[in-house]
Amino acid sequence: MQDELTIETKQATEAKTDDNNIVIKVEHLQKSFEDNKVLKDINLTLCKGENLVVLGRSGQGKSVTIQCIVGLLDYDEGSLKVFGKEIKELLEDELKEIRLKLGFLFQSGALYDSMTVRENLSFPLTRVLKMKDDSKINQEVEDVLDAVGLKDAIDKMPGDLSGGMRKRIGLARTLILKPAIMLYDEPTTGLDPITSKEISQLIMDLRKKYQTSSIIITHDLACAKITGDRILVLHEGKFIAEGSYKDLEKSQDERVNSFFK
Ligand SMILES: Nc1ncnc2c1ncn2[C@@H]1O[C@H](COP(=O)(O)OP(=O)(O)OP(=O)(O)O)[C@@H](O)[C@H]1O
Ligand SMILES: [Mg+2]
Repeated sequence: MQDELTIETKQATEAKTDDNNIVIKVEHLQKSFEDNKVLKDINLTLCKGENLVVLGRSGQGKSVTIQCIVGLLDYDEGSLKVFGKEIKELLEDELKEIRLKLGFLFQSGALYDSMTVRENLSFPLTRVLKMKDDSKINQEVEDVLDAVGLKDAIDKMPGDLSGGMRKRIGLARTLILKPAIMLYDEPTTGLDPITSKEISQLIMDLRKKYQTSSIIITHDLACAKITGDRILVLHEGKFIAEGSYKDLEKSQDERVNSFFK
């Protein structure tokens, strides 16, 4: 497994040098809510196939960053390009098209509690992709449940699932639209350490199966260690450090190494 991981990391690093391999590029992004300046100067590049982890304490602007990327929040200044297109300049239809390529796993999971797992997963297919063929829909639902290891949960209600299972279903619901980029907002929050590790491992398996590039926001160090090819540390609206887990673990900066204690 270690060898496989090393190879994947190396590929992601090599890809970095080639501009055609950049899927998200953020430059000097700023965002305020009235006089609360949340994002002061955000710069990041996500390469094809890469897992980029954003570490940061609560309230530093991690979710705001990701919400700007998916177009749920407008940014005030700077540039934010997804597949080379400046998000702010897109017409509604173009934005819709880009959003289809972005899978967003919400911090809260956001399943419909009154629908079965099957209905929760069919919903994006019928609603977004306008699919009508029931057998095709069922096949897609079964395939994605298989990918997240929960085939048996297909007729269950979300309320009957554990926290870890709900995360898996949330993931399946995002993946069923086959996004090129996955944005994970705290994928392991509220889970015990063993389940967190399983979800982190699943993120790695899914990257391979679905060939995604991902931004993973977390304050779970174990998750950062398992999933991150590269880690950025967000502090007061700016990234203050960048590197591999091993690099950052050795950082002399108190704001960085406080995470690793
Ligand atoms: N829609 C909003 N309107 C006003 N202020 C907001 C909004 N969303 C976020 N904020 C503010 O932006 C700041 C950063 O919030 P954000 O949710 O990005 O933090 P975070 O780093 O994701 O924290 P956590 O780890 O707790 O999820 C906070 O001060 C928050 O109050
Ligand atoms: Mg958040």
